[in-house]
Amino acid sequence: MHFHILTLFPEMVMHGLSESVIGRALERGILSVSAVDIRDFTLDKHRKTDDYPYGGGAGMVMQAQPVYDAWKSVADRIGRGKSGARVRTVYLTPQGRLFSQELAKELAKEQDLILLCGHYEGVDERVLEEIVTDYVSIGDYVLTGGELPAMVLTDAVGRLVPGVLNNQMSAETETFHGYLLEYPQYSRPAEWNGRKVPAVLLSGDRKKVREWRLGQSVERTGARRPDLYRQYQRLEACLGVLRREKLHHTDMTELIARGQAELICADGADICLYDKNSGAYFHTAESVPKGLAALAALCEHAGGRCVQEILLALHQDFMAEEARRQYEAEVLMECRQAVYTGNVKLPVSGLIRSGEGAEEGLPAIRPLGPEHLSCVAEHYDSVDREYLDDQIRREQMWGAFDGEELLGVAGIHKEGSIGMLTVFPEHRGKRLGKALETFVVNGILECGFTPYCQIEEGNEISMRLQKSLGLYFSGEKLYWMKLRLHR
Ligand code: ADE
Repeated sequence: MHFHILTLFPEMVMHGLSESVIGRALERGILSVSAVDIRDFTLDKHRKTDDYPYGGGAGMVMQAQPVYDAWKSVADRIGRGKSGARVRTVYLTPQGRLFSQELAKELAKEQDLILLCGHYEGVDERVLEEIVTDYVSIGDYVLTGGELPAMVLTDAVGRLVPGVLNNQMSAETETFHGYLLEYPQYSRPAEWNGRKVPAVLLSGDRKKVREWRLGQSVERTGARRPDLYRQYQRLEACLGVLRREKLHHTDMTELIARGQAELICADGADICLYDKNSGAYFHTAESVPKGLAALAALCEHAGGRCVQEILLALHQDFMAEEARRQYEAEVLMECRQAVYTGNVKLPVSGLIRSGEGAEEGLPAIRPLGPEHLSCVAEHYDSVDREYLDDQIRREQMWGAFDGEELLGVAGIHKEGSIGMLTVFPEHRGKRLGKALETFVVNGILECGFTPYCQIEEGNEISMRLQKSLGLYFSGEKLYWMKLRLHR
Protein backbone atom coordinates (compact mmCIF):
# COMPACT_ATOMS: atom_id res chain seq x y z
CA MET A 1 0.00 0.00 0.00
CA HIS A 2 1.26 3.47 -0.86
CA PHE A 3 0.75 6.56 1.30
CA HIS A 4 1.34 9.92 -0.39
CA ILE A 5 1.48 12.70 2.18
CA LEU A 6 1.11 16.28 0.93
CA THR A 7 2.79 18.49 3.50
CA LEU A 8 4.88 21.58 4.17
CA PHE A 9 7.04 19.51 6.55
CA PRO A 10 8.11 16.38 4.65
CA GLU A 11 11.01 15.59 6.98
CA MET A 12 8.78 15.55 10.04
CA VAL A 13 6.55 12.95 8.42
CA MET A 14 9.36 10.78 7.08
CA HIS A 15 11.21 10.79 10.42
CA GLY A 16 8.08 9.96 12.33
CA LEU A 17 7.29 6.93 10.20
CA SER A 18 10.74 5.48 9.66
CA GLU A 19 11.01 3.58 12.95
CA SER A 20 9.56 0.44 14.49
CA VAL A 21 6.85 -1.66 12.81
CA ILE A 22 5.95 0.80 10.04
CA GLY A 23 9.63 1.57 9.42
CA ARG A 24 10.34 -2.15 8.96
CA ALA A 25 7.37 -2.53 6.60
CA LEU A 26 8.80 0.36 4.55
CA GLU A 27 12.19 -1.34 4.41
CA ARG A 28 10.58 -4.61 3.34
CA GLY A 29 8.58 -2.83 0.63
CA ILE A 30 5.17 -3.88 2.00
CA LEU A 31 4.30 -0.21 2.51
CA SER A 32 5.65 2.93 0.95
CA VAL A 33 5.40 6.50 2.21
CA SER A 34 6.28 9.47 0.06
CA ALA A 35 6.14 12.93 1.55
CA VAL A 36 5.37 15.45 -1.18
CA ASP A 37 6.58 18.96 -0.35
CA ILE A 38 3.76 21.35 -1.28
CA ARG A 39 6.29 24.19 -1.40
CA ASP A 40 7.96 22.55 -4.43
CA PHE A 41 4.82 23.32 -6.43
CA THR A 42 4.32 26.99 -5.69
CA LEU A 43 4.61 29.40 -8.62
CA ASP A 44 5.49 32.23 -6.25
CA LYS A 45 9.05 33.45 -6.68
CA HIS A 46 9.50 33.64 -2.89
CA ARG A 47 8.23 30.05 -2.52
CA LYS A 48 5.21 31.32 -0.58
CA THR A 49 2.29 28.88 -0.20
CA ASP A 50 -0.10 30.97 1.92
CA ASP A 51 -1.86 34.32 1.84
CA TYR A 52 -4.30 36.49 3.82
CA PRO A 53 -7.91 35.31 4.08
CA TYR A 54 -10.48 37.18 2.00
CA GLY A 55 -12.93 38.94 4.30
CA GLY A 56 -10.26 39.47 6.93
CA GLY A 57 -9.54 37.56 10.10
CA ALA A 58 -6.52 36.17 11.86
CA GLY A 59 -3.86 33.97 10.33
CA MET A 60 -3.03 32.81 6.85
CA VAL A 61 -4.69 30.42 4.44
CA MET A 62 -2.90 27.80 2.32
CA GLN A 63 -3.47 28.71 -1.32
CA ALA A 64 -5.24 26.48 -3.78
CA GLN A 65 -2.63 26.41 -6.58
CA PRO A 66 0.35 24.74 -4.84
CA VAL A 67 -1.92 22.27 -3.03
CA TYR A 68 -3.70 21.33 -6.25
CA ASP A 69 -0.51 20.96 -8.27
CA ALA A 70 1.09 18.82 -5.54
CA TRP A 71 -2.01 16.61 -5.48
CA LYS A 72 -2.17 16.40 -9.27
CA SER A 73 1.48 15.33 -9.51
CA VAL A 74 0.59 12.31 -7.36
CA ALA A 75 -2.84 11.60 -8.84
CA ASP A 76 -1.44 11.60 -12.40
CA ARG A 77 1.43 9.34 -11.39
CA ILE A 78 -0.76 6.70 -9.70
CA GLY A 79 -3.11 6.63 -12.62
CA ARG A 80 -6.13 8.67 -11.59
CA GLY A 81 -8.90 7.93 -13.96
CA LYS A 82 -7.55 4.50 -14.92
CA SER A 83 -10.62 2.95 -13.34
CA GLY A 84 -12.64 6.15 -13.56
CA ALA A 85 -12.66 6.43 -9.75
CA ARG A 86 -11.30 9.37 -7.78
CA VAL A 87 -8.14 8.66 -5.82
CA ARG A 88 -8.99 8.45 -2.14
CA THR A 89 -7.78 11.78 -0.78
CA VAL A 90 -8.04 12.40 2.96
CA TYR A 91 -7.84 15.91 4.37
CA LEU A 92 -6.84 15.82 8.04
CA THR A 93 -8.93 18.38 9.87
CA PRO A 94 -10.65 18.72 13.26
CA GLN A 95 -13.85 19.23 11.25
CA GLY A 96 -13.74 15.70 9.81
CA ARG A 97 -15.32 12.35 10.61
CA LEU A 98 -13.80 10.93 13.78
CA PHE A 99 -11.09 8.41 12.93
CA SER A 100 -11.84 4.88 14.16
CA GLN A 101 -10.69 1.30 13.76
CA GLU A 102 -13.57 0.79 11.36
CA LEU A 103 -12.41 3.62 9.10
CA ALA A 104 -8.82 2.35 9.36
CA LYS A 105 -10.02 -1.03 8.05
CA GLU A 106 -11.91 0.59 5.22
CA LEU A 107 -8.90 2.68 4.18
CA ALA A 108 -6.57 -0.34 4.40
CA LYS A 109 -8.32 -1.76 1.33
CA GLU A 110 -6.98 1.03 -0.87
CA GLN A 111 -3.85 0.60 -2.98
CA ASP A 112 -2.99 4.31 -2.76
CA LEU A 113 -4.01 6.91 -0.24
CA ILE A 114 -3.30 10.63 -0.53
CA LEU A 115 -3.21 12.50 2.79
CA LEU A 116 -3.36 16.29 2.81
CA CYS A 117 -1.92 18.07 5.84
CA GLY A 118 -3.25 21.56 6.41
CA HIS A 119 -1.55 24.38 8.29
CA TYR A 120 -2.17 27.93 9.46
CA GLU A 121 -5.87 28.78 9.50
CA GLY A 122 -6.80 26.23 6.85
CA VAL A 123 -6.75 25.53 3.15
CA ASP A 124 -8.59 27.43 0.39
CA GLU A 125 -12.01 25.78 0.23
CA ARG A 126 -12.03 25.57 -3.57
CA VAL A 127 -9.13 23.12 -3.76
CA LEU A 128 -10.67 21.00 -1.00
CA GLU A 129 -13.89 20.77 -3.02
CA GLU A 130 -11.86 19.75 -6.04
CA ILE A 131 -9.71 16.95 -4.57
CA VAL A 132 -10.86 15.73 -1.14
CA THR A 133 -12.89 12.53 -0.82
CA ASP A 134 -12.75 12.19 3.02
CA TYR A 135 -12.46 14.71 5.85
CA VAL A 136 -10.95 12.99 8.89
CA SER A 137 -10.27 14.18 12.45
CA ILE A 138 -8.21 12.23 14.97
CA GLY A 139 -10.00 13.74 17.95
CA ASP A 140 -11.84 16.72 19.31
CA TYR A 141 -8.84 18.94 19.89
CA VAL A 142 -6.90 21.25 17.65
CA LEU A 143 -3.29 20.60 16.63
CA THR A 144 -1.00 23.01 14.84
CA GLY A 145 -1.10 21.02 11.62
CA GLY A 146 -2.17 17.83 9.91
CA GLU A 147 1.22 16.06 10.03
CA LEU A 148 0.73 14.27 13.36
CA PRO A 149 -2.81 13.18 12.39
CA ALA A 150 -1.46 11.93 9.03
CA MET A 151 1.15 9.88 10.88
CA VAL A 152 -1.49 8.50 13.25
CA LEU A 153 -3.65 7.49 10.31
CA THR A 154 -0.71 5.97 8.39
CA ASP A 155 0.29 3.91 11.43
CA ALA A 156 -3.24 2.65 12.17
CA VAL A 157 -4.02 1.85 8.53
CA GLY A 158 -0.55 0.54 7.66
CA ARG A 159 -0.49 -2.05 10.44
CA LEU A 160 -3.66 -3.61 9.01
CA VAL A 161 -2.03 -4.29 5.65
CA PRO A 162 -1.29 -8.04 5.41
CA GLY A 163 2.34 -8.83 6.17
CA VAL A 164 3.04 -5.67 8.20
CA LEU A 165 2.49 -7.41 11.53
CA ASN A 166 4.16 -10.78 11.90
CA ASN A 167 0.95 -12.35 13.07
CA GLN A 168 -2.04 -11.09 11.09
CA MET A 169 -4.50 -12.47 13.63
CA SER A 170 -3.18 -10.03 16.22
CA ALA A 171 -4.35 -7.17 14.03
CA GLU A 172 -7.80 -8.71 13.89
CA THR A 173 -8.36 -9.78 17.50
CA GLU A 174 -7.54 -7.01 19.89
CA THR A 175 -8.68 -3.81 21.52
CA PHE A 176 -12.08 -2.60 20.34
CA HIS A 177 -12.75 -5.78 18.46
CA GLY A 178 -16.07 -6.98 19.72
CA TYR A 179 -16.36 -3.90 21.94
CA LEU A 180 -13.96 -5.20 24.60
CA LEU A 181 -10.66 -3.61 25.58
CA GLU A 182 -7.58 -5.77 25.68
CA TYR A 183 -6.72 -7.68 28.85
CA PRO A 184 -3.58 -6.79 30.86
CA GLN A 185 -0.27 -8.30 29.71
CA TYR A 186 2.74 -9.43 31.79
CA SER A 187 6.27 -10.52 31.01
CA ARG A 188 9.32 -11.70 32.95
CA PRO A 189 10.21 -11.59 35.79
CA ALA A 190 7.34 -13.39 37.52
CA GLU A 191 7.78 -10.97 40.44
CA TRP A 192 8.80 -7.33 40.13
CA ASN A 193 8.90 -4.71 42.85
CA GLY A 194 6.97 -7.05 45.13
CA ARG A 195 4.19 -7.48 42.51
CA LYS A 196 3.46 -10.97 41.25
CA VAL A 197 2.15 -11.99 37.83
CA PRO A 198 -1.37 -13.48 38.26
CA ALA A 199 -0.87 -17.19 39.01
CA VAL A 200 -3.25 -18.38 36.29
CA LEU A 201 -0.88 -17.07 33.60
CA LEU A 202 1.86 -19.37 34.90
CA SER A 203 -0.45 -22.39 35.13
CA GLY A 204 -0.11 -23.56 31.52
CA ASP A 205 -3.88 -24.19 31.43
CA ARG A 206 -4.87 -22.47 28.16
CA LYS A 207 -8.59 -22.69 28.82
CA LYS A 208 -8.23 -21.06 32.24
CA VAL A 209 -5.94 -18.38 30.77
CA ARG A 210 -8.54 -17.59 28.07
CA GLU A 211 -11.31 -17.34 30.66
CA TRP A 212 -9.23 -15.11 32.93
CA ARG A 213 -8.32 -12.80 30.07
CA LEU A 214 -11.93 -12.49 28.97
CA GLY A 215 -12.94 -11.67 32.56
CA GLN A 216 -10.25 -9.00 32.75
CA SER A 217 -11.32 -7.52 29.40
CA VAL A 218 -14.93 -7.33 30.56
CA GLU A 219 -14.01 -5.78 33.91
CA ARG A 220 -11.62 -3.29 32.34
CA THR A 221 -14.12 -2.24 29.68
CA GLY A 222 -16.82 -1.72 32.31
CA ALA A 223 -14.50 0.46 34.37
CA ARG A 224 -12.80 2.44 31.60
CA ARG A 225 -15.24 2.57 28.68
CA PRO A 226 -18.86 2.34 29.82
CA ASP A 227 -19.98 3.29 26.27
CA LEU A 228 -18.32 0.21 24.77
CA TYR A 229 -19.44 -1.94 27.70
CA ARG A 230 -23.10 -1.19 27.03
CA GLN A 231 -22.69 -2.33 23.42
CA TYR A 232 -20.96 -5.48 24.63
CA GLN A 233 -23.79 -6.24 27.06
CA ARG A 234 -26.45 -5.82 24.39
CA LEU A 235 -24.64 -8.21 22.05
CA GLU A 236 -24.14 -10.70 24.88
CA ALA A 237 -27.90 -10.67 25.48
CA CYS A 238 -28.42 -11.41 21.74
CA LEU A 239 -25.96 -14.29 21.96
CA GLY A 240 -28.05 -15.84 24.72
CA VAL A 241 -31.15 -15.70 22.52
CA LEU A 242 -29.45 -16.86 19.29
CA ARG A 243 -27.87 -19.87 21.00
CA ARG A 244 -31.32 -21.34 21.63
CA GLU A 245 -31.13 -22.44 17.98
CA LYS A 246 -27.42 -22.85 17.81
CA LEU A 247 -26.83 -24.45 14.40
CA HIS A 248 -29.32 -22.25 12.62
CA HIS A 249 -27.80 -19.06 14.05
CA THR A 250 -24.10 -19.86 13.93
CA ASP A 251 -23.56 -17.19 11.24
CA MET A 252 -24.96 -14.57 13.63
CA THR A 253 -23.26 -15.80 16.80
CA GLU A 254 -19.95 -15.92 14.94
CA LEU A 255 -20.37 -12.33 13.75
CA ILE A 256 -20.61 -11.37 17.40
CA ALA A 257 -17.80 -13.69 18.56
CA ARG A 258 -15.48 -12.38 15.84
CA GLY A 259 -16.27 -8.76 16.68
CA GLN A 260 -17.84 -7.93 13.31
CA ALA A 261 -21.39 -7.31 14.47
CA GLU A 262 -23.16 -4.02 14.85
CA LEU A 263 -26.55 -4.37 16.46
CA ILE A 264 -29.31 -2.81 14.38
CA CYS A 265 -32.18 -3.88 16.61
CA ALA A 266 -33.11 -6.55 19.14
CA ASP A 267 -36.53 -7.26 20.55
CA GLY A 268 -36.67 -10.67 22.25
CA ALA A 269 -36.07 -13.32 19.61
CA ASP A 270 -36.18 -10.76 16.76
CA ILE A 271 -32.65 -9.65 16.08
CA CYS A 272 -30.95 -7.85 13.24
CA LEU A 273 -27.18 -7.47 12.90
CA TYR A 274 -25.03 -5.58 10.43
CA ASP A 275 -21.73 -7.17 9.45
CA LYS A 276 -19.07 -4.47 9.44
CA ASN A 277 -16.82 -6.67 7.26
CA SER A 278 -19.09 -7.61 4.39
CA GLY A 279 -21.77 -4.93 4.67
CA ALA A 280 -24.46 -7.65 4.75
CA TYR A 281 -27.41 -7.77 7.17
CA PHE A 282 -28.44 -10.80 9.25
CA HIS A 283 -32.00 -11.11 10.42
CA THR A 284 -33.91 -13.60 12.53
CA ALA A 285 -37.52 -13.24 13.58
CA GLU A 286 -40.22 -14.88 15.65
CA SER A 287 -43.23 -13.18 14.11
CA VAL A 288 -44.09 -11.31 10.92
CA PRO A 289 -44.86 -7.90 12.51
CA LYS A 290 -41.64 -7.78 14.52
CA GLY A 291 -39.67 -9.25 11.61
CA LEU A 292 -41.00 -6.53 9.32
CA ALA A 293 -40.16 -3.85 11.86
CA ALA A 294 -36.58 -5.15 11.93
CA LEU A 295 -36.51 -5.20 8.13
CA ALA A 296 -37.60 -1.55 8.08
CA ALA A 297 -34.89 -0.71 10.64
CA LEU A 298 -32.19 -2.33 8.55
CA CYS A 299 -33.39 -0.55 5.39
CA GLU A 300 -33.12 2.73 7.28
CA HIS A 301 -29.60 1.83 8.41
CA ALA A 302 -28.64 0.92 4.83
CA GLY A 303 -30.18 4.20 3.60
CA GLY A 304 -27.87 6.05 5.98
CA ARG A 305 -24.93 4.28 4.33
CA CYS A 306 -26.14 5.51 0.94
CA VAL A 307 -26.29 2.04 -0.62
CA GLN A 308 -28.85 1.11 -3.26
CA GLU A 309 -28.77 -2.62 -2.83
CA ILE A 310 -28.40 -4.76 0.25
CA LEU A 311 -27.43 -8.34 0.90
CA LEU A 312 -29.52 -9.96 3.53
CA ALA A 313 -29.46 -13.34 5.29
CA LEU A 314 -32.96 -14.25 6.48
CA HIS A 315 -33.44 -17.17 8.83
CA GLN A 316 -37.17 -17.91 8.45
CA ASP A 317 -39.26 -19.10 5.49
CA PHE A 318 -42.04 -16.67 6.40
CA MET A 319 -39.66 -13.71 6.36
CA ALA A 320 -38.21 -14.71 2.98
CA GLU A 321 -41.78 -14.72 1.69
CA GLU A 322 -42.53 -11.30 3.23
CA ALA A 323 -39.32 -9.80 1.87
CA ARG A 324 -40.24 -11.10 -1.59
CA ARG A 325 -43.80 -9.77 -1.37
CA GLN A 326 -43.25 -6.45 0.32
CA TYR A 327 -39.78 -5.48 -0.89
CA GLU A 328 -39.53 -7.45 -4.16
CA ALA A 329 -36.38 -8.99 -2.70
CA GLU A 330 -34.76 -11.67 -4.81
CA VAL A 331 -33.54 -15.00 -3.40
CA LEU A 332 -29.88 -15.52 -4.28
CA MET A 333 -29.38 -18.80 -2.45
CA GLU A 334 -31.35 -21.18 -0.24
CA CYS A 335 -29.00 -23.06 2.00
CA ARG A 336 -28.49 -24.86 5.26
CA GLN A 337 -25.82 -24.09 7.77
CA ALA A 338 -23.27 -26.85 8.56
CA VAL A 339 -21.30 -26.32 11.77
CA TYR A 340 -18.26 -27.95 13.32
CA THR A 341 -19.31 -28.02 16.96
CA GLY A 342 -16.22 -29.70 18.44
CA ASN A 343 -13.12 -27.93 19.66
CA VAL A 344 -10.57 -30.61 18.76
CA LYS A 345 -8.76 -30.10 15.49
CA LEU A 346 -9.52 -32.46 12.59
CA PRO A 347 -6.86 -35.07 11.76
CA VAL A 348 -4.61 -34.12 8.83
CA SER A 349 -2.55 -37.28 8.54
CA GLY A 350 -2.91 -38.86 5.10
CA LEU A 351 -4.58 -35.67 3.80
CA ILE A 352 -2.12 -32.80 3.98
CA ARG A 353 1.64 -32.70 3.63
CA SER A 354 3.10 -31.39 6.86
CA GLY A 355 6.88 -31.92 6.69
CA GLU A 356 9.67 -31.73 4.16
CA GLY A 357 10.07 -34.84 2.01
CA ALA A 358 7.46 -36.78 3.93
CA GLU A 359 4.05 -37.89 2.73
CA GLU A 360 4.78 -38.24 -0.99
CA GLY A 361 1.75 -37.41 -3.13
CA LEU A 362 -0.08 -35.32 -0.54
CA PRO A 363 -0.80 -31.64 -1.25
CA ALA A 364 0.84 -28.80 0.63
CA ILE A 365 -1.64 -26.11 1.67
CA ARG A 366 -0.58 -22.48 1.90
CA PRO A 367 -2.05 -18.99 1.56
CA LEU A 368 -2.71 -17.72 -1.95
CA GLY A 369 -0.98 -14.61 -3.26
CA PRO A 370 -2.07 -11.99 -5.83
CA GLU A 371 -0.27 -14.05 -8.50
CA HIS A 372 -2.94 -16.77 -8.14
CA LEU A 373 -5.91 -14.45 -8.69
CA SER A 374 -6.39 -15.15 -12.41
CA CYS A 375 -6.23 -18.90 -11.98
CA VAL A 376 -8.75 -18.80 -9.10
CA ALA A 377 -11.11 -16.46 -10.97
CA GLU A 378 -11.00 -18.81 -13.98
CA HIS A 379 -12.16 -21.77 -11.89
CA TYR A 380 -14.53 -20.08 -9.45
CA ASP A 381 -17.09 -17.62 -10.79
CA SER A 382 -19.75 -17.52 -8.04
CA VAL A 383 -18.22 -14.27 -6.73
CA ASP A 384 -16.63 -11.46 -8.71
CA ARG A 385 -12.92 -11.01 -9.26
CA GLU A 386 -12.70 -8.00 -6.97
CA TYR A 387 -14.09 -10.05 -4.07
CA LEU A 388 -11.55 -12.84 -4.69
CA ASP A 389 -8.77 -10.26 -4.90
CA ASP A 390 -9.88 -8.79 -1.57
CA GLN A 391 -9.99 -12.16 0.17
CA ILE A 392 -6.59 -13.16 -1.21
CA ARG A 393 -5.06 -9.85 -0.04
CA ARG A 394 -6.60 -10.29 3.39
CA GLU A 395 -5.01 -13.77 3.56
CA GLN A 396 -8.38 -15.48 3.74
CA MET A 397 -7.78 -17.91 0.85
CA TRP A 398 -5.60 -20.98 0.64
CA GLY A 399 -4.54 -23.30 -2.13
CA ALA A 400 -3.63 -26.99 -2.34
CA PHE A 401 -0.32 -27.24 -4.19
CA ASP A 402 1.76 -29.94 -5.80
CA GLY A 403 5.07 -28.07 -5.91
CA GLU A 404 4.11 -24.81 -7.60
CA GLU A 405 1.03 -26.23 -9.32
CA LEU A 406 -2.26 -25.05 -7.85
CA LEU A 407 -4.78 -27.91 -7.63
CA GLY A 408 -7.70 -26.34 -5.78
CA VAL A 409 -8.66 -23.54 -3.38
CA ALA A 410 -10.80 -22.75 -0.34
CA GLY A 411 -11.34 -19.67 1.75
CA ILE A 412 -13.31 -17.79 4.33
CA HIS A 413 -16.04 -15.42 3.17
CA LYS A 414 -16.11 -11.86 4.50
CA GLU A 415 -18.89 -12.65 6.94
CA GLY A 416 -17.02 -15.69 8.25
CA SER A 417 -18.34 -18.86 6.57
CA ILE A 418 -16.00 -21.32 4.91
CA GLY A 419 -16.51 -21.27 1.17
CA MET A 420 -15.17 -20.85 -2.35
CA LEU A 421 -14.09 -24.50 -2.14
CA THR A 422 -13.09 -25.63 -5.61
CA VAL A 423 -10.94 -28.49 -6.78
CA PHE A 424 -9.85 -27.99 -10.38
CA PRO A 425 -11.47 -30.60 -12.69
CA GLU A 426 -8.34 -32.60 -13.55
CA HIS A 427 -7.53 -33.08 -9.85
CA ARG A 428 -10.88 -34.25 -8.53
CA GLY A 429 -11.27 -37.56 -6.74
CA LYS A 430 -8.03 -37.17 -4.75
CA ARG A 431 -9.61 -35.99 -1.48
CA LEU A 432 -8.30 -32.45 -2.07
CA GLY A 433 -11.65 -30.90 -1.07
CA LYS A 434 -11.47 -32.69 2.24
CA ALA A 435 -7.84 -31.64 2.70
CA LEU A 436 -8.63 -27.98 1.99
CA GLU A 437 -11.67 -27.80 4.22
CA THR A 438 -9.85 -29.63 7.03
CA PHE A 439 -7.08 -27.04 6.84
CA VAL A 440 -9.50 -24.11 7.01
CA VAL A 441 -11.55 -25.67 9.84
CA ASN A 442 -8.38 -26.16 11.89
CA GLY A 443 -7.23 -22.60 11.23
CA ILE A 444 -10.55 -21.21 12.48
CA LEU A 445 -10.38 -23.41 15.59
CA GLU A 446 -6.88 -22.09 16.28
CA CYS A 447 -8.32 -18.59 16.41
CA GLY A 448 -10.86 -19.76 18.99
CA PHE A 449 -13.85 -19.46 16.61
CA THR A 450 -16.49 -21.90 15.37
CA PRO A 451 -16.05 -23.17 11.80
CA TYR A 452 -19.20 -23.25 9.68
CA CYS A 453 -20.31 -23.18 6.07
CA GLN A 454 -23.53 -22.69 4.15
CA ILE A 455 -24.50 -25.45 1.74
CA GLU A 456 -26.87 -24.71 -1.10
CA GLU A 457 -29.98 -26.89 -1.15
CA GLY A 458 -29.40 -29.89 -3.38
CA ASN A 459 -25.59 -29.81 -3.34
CA GLU A 460 -25.26 -33.49 -2.40
CA ILE A 461 -21.49 -33.67 -2.93
CA SER A 462 -20.85 -30.87 -0.47
CA MET A 463 -23.36 -32.29 2.01
CA ARG A 464 -21.50 -35.60 1.97
CA LEU A 465 -18.18 -33.82 2.52
CA GLN A 466 -19.54 -31.87 5.50
CA LYS A 467 -20.93 -35.04 7.06
CA SER A 468 -17.66 -36.90 6.54
CA LEU A 469 -15.82 -34.09 8.37
CA GLY A 470 -18.26 -34.28 11.28
CA LEU A 471 -20.17 -31.04 10.68
CA TYR A 472 -23.82 -30.90 11.79
CA PHE A 473 -26.59 -29.43 9.65
CA SER A 474 -29.23 -26.97 10.75
CA GLY A 475 -32.76 -28.28 10.27
CA GLU A 476 -34.01 -24.95 8.93
CA LYS A 477 -33.16 -23.10 5.78
CA LEU A 478 -31.38 -19.78 5.49
CA TYR A 479 -32.10 -17.39 2.60
CA TRP A 480 -29.54 -15.06 1.07
CA MET A 481 -31.51 -12.29 -0.56
CA LYS A 482 -30.85 -9.14 -2.52
CA LEU A 483 -33.03 -6.17 -1.71
CA ARG A 484 -33.14 -2.92 -3.66
CA LEU A 485 -33.77 0.30 -1.76
CA HIS A 486 -35.76 3.18 -3.28
CA ARG A 487 -37.61 1.10 -5.84
N1 ADE B 1 -5.46 19.21 12.29
C1 ADE B 1 -5.44 19.92 13.42
N2 ADE B 1 -6.05 19.29 14.42
C2 ADE B 1 -6.48 18.10 13.90
C3 ADE B 1 -7.19 17.00 14.42
N3 ADE B 1 -7.61 16.96 15.69
N4 ADE B 1 -7.46 15.96 13.60
C4 ADE B 1 -7.06 16.00 12.32
N5 ADE B 1 -6.39 17.01 11.77
C5 ADE B 1 -6.09 18.07 12.55
